[in-house]
Amino acid sequence: MRPFVAVISLALISSSLICVSAQRKRPASTKQAAVKTSDADQLARRRADALLAQMTLNEKLGQLNQLFFFSFQKEESMNDGIRKGEIGSLLFVTDPATINRFQKIAATESRLKIPLIFGFDVIHGFHTIFPVPIAMAASWDPRMVAGAQTIAAREARAVGINWTFAPMVDIARDPRWGRIVEGAGEDPYLGAAMSRAQVRGFQGDHIGSTEHLLACVKHFAGYGTAEGGRDYDAANISDAQLWNVYLPPFKAAVDAGVGSVMSAYMDLNDVPATGNRWLLRDVLRRDWKFSGFVVSDANAVSDLKTHGFARDGHDAAVKALTAGVNMEMSFNAATYLKNLGNALKQNQISIKDIDDMVRPLLETKIKLGLFENPYVDEAKVKSTFDNPAHREAAKNAAERSAVLLKNQTNLLPLSKTAYKKIAVIGPLGDSRQNMLGSWSFAMDINETSTILAGLKTKLGSGTEVEFAPGVQISRIVPSIFDMTLKEKHPPAWTEGHAADEFKKAVALAKDSDIAVMVLGENQDMSGEQASRPTIDLPGRQLELLQAVRATGKPVVLVLINGRPLDITWAAENVPSILEAWYPGSAAGNAVADLLFGDAVPGGKLPFTWIKNAGQVPFYYSHNLTQNPGEQEKRYWNGNAVPLYRFGYGLSYTTFAFSNLKVSQPEIKIGETVEVSVDVKNTGPRAGDEVVQLYIHQQAGGASRPIRELKGFERVTLAAGETKTVRLKLGPNELRYWNAAARGWVQDAENFDVWVGGDSSASLHSTFRVMK
Ligand code: BGC
Repeated sequence: MRPFVAVISLALISSSLICVSAQRKRPASTKQAAVKTSDADQLARRRADALLAQMTLNEKLGQLNQLFFFSFQKEESMNDGIRKGEIGSLLFVTDPATINRFQKIAATESRLKIPLIFGFDVIHGFHTIFPVPIAMAASWDPRMVAGAQTIAAREARAVGINWTFAPMVDIARDPRWGRIVEGAGEDPYLGAAMSRAQVRGFQGDHIGSTEHLLACVKHFAGYGTAEGGRDYDAANISDAQLWNVYLPPFKAAVDAGVGSVMSAYMDLNDVPATGNRWLLRDVLRRDWKFSGFVVSDANAVSDLKTHGFARDGHDAAVKALTAGVNMEMSFNAATYLKNLGNALKQNQISIKDIDDMVRPLLETKIKLGLFENPYVDEAKVKSTFDNPAHREAAKNAAERSAVLLKNQTNLLPLSKTAYKKIAVIGPLGDSRQNMLGSWSFAMDINETSTILAGLKTKLGSGTEVEFAPGVQISRIVPSIFDMTLKEKHPPAWTEGHAADEFKKAVALAKDSDIAVMVLGENQDMSGEQASRPTIDLPGRQLELLQAVRATGKPVVLVLINGRPLDITWAAENVPSILEAWYPGSAAGNAVADLLFGDAVPGGKLPFTWIKNAGQVPFYYSHNLTQNPGEQEKRYWNGNAVPLYRFGYGLSYTTFAFSNLKVSQPEIKIGETVEVSVDVKNTGPRAGDEVVQLYIHQQAGGASRPIRELKGFERVTLAAGETKTVRLKLGPNELRYWNAAARGWVQDAENFDVWVGGDSSASLHSTFRVMK
């Protein structure tokens, strides 16, 4: 049983070695930190070993035991276990006073006084909610993303949380899968950049940095390919795809020093990820030299039995431990605590096996400074939460994440004086909760601005802004997360009421100068257990859009969502479309600034925007095969093209690329070329362009993708300004994992290079790699 399912019921009652990933130059401060941490590592090792020498078997197993604690549970239910040293970690405690009470028992009443580590899903903010991760990936701005996660870490740390279950770096090429919203989309290069940025943001310079958290990269590995997009279903991935596409963002996190890894729920090529010794020991620890600890996903250890992989709980515990899972996260299964003692007696595992699993956990608690500072200062929470810079950063993040999909006749940005009456129409136009996206629990909902409120604040009393929802949208199968919503779903309308609301919305449009339609998916339609077989606009939203458009009034469509939706009709018939994602706490103010030109959209799609779910999987970096000229006719109805390309996004200004240069026509294997290009803002106002570099290897030991992203930089340019952007292509960008050689190879071959503002970039050059 998944924890939330259990919660619901309770609630009802109550490289390979050669695979060195992009070793870009690190800033000096990180290098110094690396030196510092290595001393800290040795010290932590000695202290952990000294502790281990004093621990009983039960205390050791206790350190491997992580339990959920929800606010509706009684604290007494945990106190005894903590006192006995049978609980090493709790997750989902967000109240600082409760955290301090639990910690006091661990740090003063347990025999060895080993503090607890408190974990929580700090995914895109804590008190201040930032845009969802797929949105932040659309910013193509790792520095902004690192900054956002630094703030998220500070706020969570302020209540006593030490550890976040993020970043989620699962590559997703099937938007039916609800959790596409939690990651960085379809591309391993962009995914790796976002992974590194988030680890840096959460952890700071080193594990134990003040006001930071331990990060946990998840879900290791392959969860994004759940069959049919059905959450938790099996993943079947070829070796080449695994190495070239799915693992790089994890490797990037490990290289960035991530302190923990979460094993995934599903079977990976028939071996459950949580019992997968190859994944957790050979790849992660032996080849990648990961020295932190692995936590299972919730109940994933006991679930090894569900998979038909383990015979019973005992077998599951042995298999997960020997595969390399250090800590078991469970609602109350505690499979490790209950079974590993017997397994030891039966010689199925040794005490060294257990010690090896406990040691990294103790080392982490030591490095986090929990022994010295186990408690949190409850008096400081409010001032941390109240920091206006956090809200400003969330607004900036929402603005930088937005993607302008269409802007016919430059309807956007809207003039502040041209419209006397503006209609805001759609079920998401005046919602706070649905601006936030999944994994938003600890915020103050009152601090979220709705789009209606944002527009009203922006325009003041001179312009009338009126709202009509028009339609209601809801899931058929209720979400396990609905119990956590702070703004509950309104009661369902009767048929008559629904007809009236629809008419009212159309009448409002007729009576206004322009309609801003806010459509998409409720927060609970996207995320964990939020998969669907179609990607249409839920409910009667399309009908509403068509009826409003038929009034002849100009329409701007603002999308609120975490996956591509079938907006083919809108793309053909609505003049302007702004992808706002789930923008977070500052939603309304950010969208208002974007619509009226006080912010300029500069985000780019982190996935291929398909037309309908029948096209899945569809990604830009496919191989060219038979009949390439007919690529667009691969379905006889001509629908083998996406709606919008990977990397696509417009601005309120225009850009031109020129002067593409590759530093040398030929390099040797292992060497690096520099690609430079001039990008000019050719339009009337300042704006951002994302310079994107794609390569193609023309021949070699394997067929290589038609294009692969291998470099990018987001630049801000004043009107008329030109900047030269330089990007490097070295062995990390030019090698790939080859299924025939069973390893990483770099071929001596010719390469195409394209640079431009999306994956159809046309400015082209070549270079050759020699032996
Ligand atoms: C999710 C994880 C999450 C964990 C704890 C699981 O259901 O798959 O991503 O970190 O719950 O909330």
